[in-house]
Amino acid sequence: MKKILIAGLALLYAFAAQISAIQAAEPPEPARQPNGLALTPPMGWNSWNKFGCNINEKVIRHMADAMAESGMKDAGYQYVVIDDCWQTGRDASGNIIVDAERFPAGMKALGDYIHAKGLKFGIYSDAGRLTCGKRPGGYGHEYQDARKYAEWGVDYLKYDWCSTYTQDAKSSYTVMSDALRATGRPIVFSLCEWGLSKPWLWAANVGNLWRTTEDIYDHWQGVHDYEHGVLDILDLQVGLENFSGPGHWNDPDMLEVGNGKMTFEEYKSHFSLWALLAAPLIAGNDLSDMSAETKSILINREVIAIDQDSLGVQGRRVQKDGDLEVWARPLAGGGRAVILLNRSEKPGRISVGWEALGYPSSLKLKVRDLWSHKDQPAASGSFAADVVPHGVVMIRLASE
Ligand code: GAL
Repeated sequence: MKKILIAGLALLYAFAAQISAIQAAEPPEPARQPNGLALTPPMGWNSWNKFGCNINEKVIRHMADAMAESGMKDAGYQYVVIDDCWQTGRDASGNIIVDAERFPAGMKALGDYIHAKGLKFGIYSDAGRLTCGKRPGGYGHEYQDARKYAEWGVDYLKYDWCSTYTQDAKSSYTVMSDALRATGRPIVFSLCEWGLSKPWLWAANVGNLWRTTEDIYDHWQGVHDYEHGVLDILDLQVGLENFSGPGHWNDPDMLEVGNGKMTFEEYKSHFSLWALLAAPLIAGNDLSDMSAETKSILINREVIAIDQDSLGVQGRRVQKDGDLEVWARPLAGGGRAVILLNRSEKPGRISVGWEALGYPSSLKLKVRDLWSHKDQPAASGSFAADVVPHGVVMIRLASE
């Protein structure tokens, strides 16, 4: 009897061992797949930098009109994104309520209007219980909200991180990412948790872009509270270069070009550097009231082409000599985009040798100036130029 019992137990152990071997041999969970969107950095406009909470459907329509008529659309800008303050509460069934005073025709009608212009429709919410403007956030309503956005024809969602308390960023953003995918509508997903949890390490197949820092403000340099000037944001991009690529971009925040507090040279530098970083180009100014200078920056197709280069490699700082820097980015076809940046208050001469750009020094290269829109004499071994204070010289190098 004892023998039978021992034999039975041995059999049971063998069976259990086999089961755990089968379990261990199970294939790991399939890796999260990309959603196939934003193969080049998204381009568009967002209401926050200029209008803050002062938005309504008239303003948004007006911006869509301006985007279509100003040449912005033709240059590649697509998304018209309503940021915070469009929502007021939830109804008894938990559906998000749109501010009826500001958006009386409703979001579906606004989406239709934007689409009729050949543009795309973006909206904003938050992973927590409240948005940063204290409107209802998406927490606990992710699938319900995503369905509603899809019904309205939303093509882009910016998702903020206020009122999230102990929430885990990766799981919170993954829930919303799944909810968006479950709608079956292609919706670009823009993560806005300010770089707190290092989203570049985990968000590649969760979202299409992630903010790397706190907010930009219309200022060349300096940090106050959570707001950072252009150079402060630029410096925070160093080290993140390898995490960006087609479908998943580092986002150094939206553009301030044209908002009035920086000089023409500073705005040119801001735009050039964002393009070199393969940053999303989301304008943040009043598109219906742009000076010729502002337009000449936002609609500089040669600089936009650098941003949108199909290789999708984020540029990096390759040289630093005090306030005189060189930033460069490899392009499809073997060329390079190069920025000579003068951060200082006085003019400076900046020179870069080909080795710093990953080229043999013997190479003779064509030089195109992307702001004067002129070909320069071909250069061998190096390129040098005088750069105005807070300014850039931006060139494209290509083989002859
Ligand atoms: C911030 C975000 C801004 C803007 C604002 C709206 O958290 O970084 O870009 O969306 O919230 O309240």
